[in-house]
Amino acid sequence: MGLLIREGEIVTAESRIRGDIFIENETITAIGPGLSVPPGTEVVDATGKLVFPGFIDPHVHIHLPFMATFAKDTHATASVSALIGGTTTFIEMCCPSRKDDTLEGYHVWTQKAEGNSACDYAFHMAVTRWDAHTEPQLLEIVRDGTTSFKIFLAYKNFFGVNDEEMFHTLQLAGRLGVITTAHCENAELVGQLQQLLLAEGRTGAAWHEPSRPEAVEAEGTARFATFVEQTGATGYVVHLSCAPALRAAVDAKLRGVRLYVESVLPHFLLDRSYAERAGVEGMKHIMSPPLRDRRNLPILWGALRTGLIDTVGTDHCPFDTEQKLLGANDFTKIPNGIPGVEDRVNLMYTYGVKRGTLDLHRFVDALSTRAAKLFGLFPRKGTVAVGSDADLVVYDTGYRGTVSSATQHGINDYNGFEGFEIEGRPALVTVRGKVQVRDGVFVGEPGRGRMLRRDANHFAHEALHAG
Ligand code: URP
Ligand code: ZN
Ligand code: ZN
Repeated sequence: MGLLIREGEIVTAESRIRGDIFIENETITAIGPGLSVPPGTEVVDATGKLVFPGFIDPHVHIHLPFMATFAKDTHATASVSALIGGTTTFIEMCCPSRKDDTLEGYHVWTQKAEGNSACDYAFHMAVTRWDAHTEPQLLEIVRDGTTSFKIFLAYKNFFGVNDEEMFHTLQLAGRLGVITTAHCENAELVGQLQQLLLAEGRTGAAWHEPSRPEAVEAEGTARFATFVEQTGATGYVVHLSCAPALRAAVDAKLRGVRLYVESVLPHFLLDRSYAERAGVEGMKHIMSPPLRDRRNLPILWGALRTGLIDTVGTDHCPFDTEQKLLGANDFTKIPNGIPGVEDRVNLMYTYGVKRGTLDLHRFVDALSTRAAKLFGLFPRKGTVAVGSDADLVVYDTGYRGTVSSATQHGINDYNGFEGFEIEGRPALVTVRGKVQVRDGVFVGEPGRGRMLRRDANHFAHEALHAG
């Protein structure tokens, strides 16, 4: 049976037209005004609503053993949250630790997701050490369709790589046409500053930010960019949080380095005062890089508007109150991370588009299209076009609500954006033509999501700029 989405305002990264969308067998087969439909077609009236391509979150953690515990969500719960918030594809960080075997780790992550996700998904493969097995194992992973890597310059002795390991990873990635994403903070400086602060009795959550100041992130960003430049690879800075790091990235872009930048939801809306709140309230807002001084927020919004920041992800990484309390007496033990996959689209729409800070097309580009292009998913994902997967978000701009842990769908007992008002939400969400969400309620098929296997994309840069 076909599905017709009638008379919506279809908005992509480049265009806005009123019309109908016809879907057959998971794919968009026609777009235009007044489409006639075969008998038996389900018709959805989208009059007065926007119709977006399904949104893509390029940075989530679902299965994550980290900081003496595990992130809370399962693929089932995270994917339902994502879909209710309009995200139809997420890319999960597959993160075995330095002690683990890379290929075994890959199998653990893919098996956990298989059959359990309600939305489509892909992986970035973390390279957390470099030894004789690494290259052949990575070749196998790339042949399996996971064509993006992740490295951490932070988290020494756990996920972190040293400069030599970063060099080998980028060399291989450059050869294979694989894009490498990177968490850019100087691990040594973080470790030393943490020890100094603890020795002075500075143990509370408020000291997390001073232990990884802006300069530490700027150094990591500049160093990663230099390694990308010298190896001829393509790099993608994840969760960039502050002006000095942005300057380092823009410097590299100006030199012609193939470097792309992601910032994540918390850094557009929250500042360090949230992490300075007393007790566990502060701990709930501990992430790395940390929430920054408020002066950074308009700078990040400006960079997003002008495209210096390419994409917006979440770094969704939920730990509950009990887990956060692991660091009650020592801020270095607070599990780093905050959920966000359910709230990204509505909050960026409200505080970006509705407040006049973000053009509607740049919003679609930053939250969907550009990630699809960079990570080898375009035009299957990231646009509304004949031949693309029918991942669609019919968006109700008249909706008014408030973000609250009482109504969220992920497994957590708090929401870092509690009380933020939203002005819009998805009225209907489809994944490959199947209606998965109606008006904030999951009505679909829990295990429908498929792993997206991607080609290595030597020409990410050219593809992006070719439109
Ligand atoms: O604080 C964060 N960001 N937690 C998740 C792990 C990471 O660094 O992305
Ligand atoms: Zn990170
Ligand atoms: Zn992350």
